[in-house]
Amino acid sequence: MSIIPVPRVAVIVVAAGSGTRLDAGVPKAFVGLDDHTILRHALRGIFAAPPMQVIVVAPSGLEGDALTDAEEAAGERRDLVSAVAGGATRQASVAAGLAALWGDVEYVLVHDAARALTPPGVFERVIEKLEAGATGVVPVMPVVDTIRQMDGEAIVGVVDRSRLTAAQTPQGFPRRILETAYAAADQEYTDDAAVVAAAGHATTTVAGDAIAFKITTRADLDRARALVSPLPTSAAPLGEPALPRVGIGTDVHAFGGDGSLWLAGLEWPGEQALSGHSDGDAVAHAIVDALLAASGLGDIGTHFGTDRPEYGGAHAEAFLGRTLALLGEAGLRVGNVSVQVQARRPRFAGRRAEAEAVLSRALGGAPVSVSATTTDGLGFTGAGEGVAAFAVALVVPAR
Ligand code: CTP
Ligand code: MG
Repeated sequence: MSIIPVPRVAVIVVAAGSGTRLDAGVPKAFVGLDDHTILRHALRGIFAAPPMQVIVVAPSGLEGDALTDAEEAAGERRDLVSAVAGGATRQASVAAGLAALWGDVEYVLVHDAARALTPPGVFERVIEKLEAGATGVVPVMPVVDTIRQMDGEAIVGVVDRSRLTAAQTPQGFPRRILETAYAAADQEYTDDAAVVAAAGHATTTVAGDAIAFKITTRADLDRARALVSPLPTSAAPLGEPALPRVGIGTDVHAFGGDGSLWLAGLEWPGEQALSGHSDGDAVAHAIVDALLAASGLGDIGTHFGTDRPEYGGAHAEAFLGRTLALLGEAGLRVGNVSVQVQARRPRFAGRRAEAEAVLSRALGGAPVSVSATTTDGLGFTGAGEGVAAFAVALVVPAR
């Protein structure tokens, strides 16, 4: 009999929330991204990291479903997984997970299942810092938006964002510190690092990952679905039916928004932002309009109007992912897209291929060509007041 060493690290995957803001009809962790649930995707990243005890905290009554997902993700390491019922708050769910730790575990990571696409590297960075002696480790991302302080509806100040950071999970702690801090916690804290900080321990940081975003709203779900949709292995054939349809879309946004510029699915640090209900990405919006027009499904206002707050601040992947889903429901898929930007800035030459890759990926791998032109100093684009985008899209029957 071979003896497999018991892991020194455990991860508590909290998946017991109901997903009120997502409002998908089932608890959030059990919503599908593709053939697999959010929980199953979250576990995939975990089983690609070094072996850990994996405790899934599920909504009460769904422990069996969670265990099935976990065992499938675990493959040959089914021995590592267990599932327990969570509580009414995230903090109560973490506490339920703590009670299921094996005796030999020395370090505990707490991870939100809702951060379904977190890559294994983030787990590895957190574990490395713990093994180097840290009493608490939080993966973080720089804050990109300008943060303002409010008093009622009035803006009373700007907060220096270089002193701020956005916390992700998995957050890691030495087991005894986390257990003691949880036992002492007499109020609800925003995350595990806050529980441990309240018990007087220092927390340090490692780099998080943009792809580890938390699926909270419908727009986040669309983005995650677009990111996991498979790329075709070869140029897709047009298929049987001989009726491709074309559509045209245009969009214009003025410079003058907050934060950084988002255009063609890319962030452009140092360039002036565009204003708009969402991120003002005129290229993405023109593509959405062209696809909806080709499909006879209305226009961008029909599906993404300002009455849909979940798309406020959303980026290209969310818009394109949702559009792709709408086409799919109508039995259509994207043939190709061609989009042209008219703008004095930013300069597209160096990032054209990158923009094409991001947009194509968001459209499930359909070819997207991006071209850019200045207008010889003429008109509002020439004057640098804003950008315009023009897209043509071809849609074809899905089968
Ligand atoms: N969570 C949990 N138990 C709870 C509440 C939340 O295990 N009682 C988990 C969620 O399943 C999620 C993570 O904590 O993976 C982060 O919480 P959040 O994104 O807020 O998820 P929900 O609480 O499900 O969503 P909402 O707040 O929109 O209802
Ligand atoms: Mg919640």
